[in-house]
Amino acid sequence: MKQSLLNTLNEQVNREFYSAYLYRSAASFMASENFPGISDWMMAQSEEETEHAEKIVKFIEDRGSRVSFLAIDAPEADFNSPLDAFETSFKHEKFITGEINKLFAQSVKEKDYAAQVLLQWFVEEQVEEEAAVGLLVEKFRLAGDNSAALLMLDSEVGTRKN
Ligand code: FEO
Repeated sequence: MKQSLLNTLNEQVNREFYSAYLYRSAASFMASENFPGISDWMMAQSEEETEHAEKIVKFIEDRGSRVSFLAIDAPEADFNSPLDAFETSFKHEKFITGEINKLFAQSVKEKDYAAQVLLQWFVEEQVEEEAAVGLLVEKFRLAGDNSAALLMLDSEVGTRKN
């Protein structure tokens, strides 16, 4: 694998671990705000992000290279509301999609076919993630400050299964 692609994949490992950290932070905040369902959803998402990071780590190792584990930035710790947390997630997922697309373009340019197969999985995954989080943003937007609606949504998202 070319060093340039390895460097970008390393950065993506870091971004996926950061994503796990961000969702973990949101899970903790939501638990403190008495939204156990949303907290569980964020926790499940955090675990999924760790799996994303590990998927790239394994790929790099299988290709006979070493991973550079870079420092992970501190995630946001406070959110104004469940809607704010999901809007933050949505914005972050759009950023990740952009980075995955750039990585895919790089793998095409560098004619790395194995990386293209790996990244194709991530391209599809981002479509799913944006759709799922985008829908939740809309639902929480509709709920507004209505306590009954928020409690119902908390129960609904808490039933998420990975
Ligand atoms: Fe691993 Fe949510 O992107």
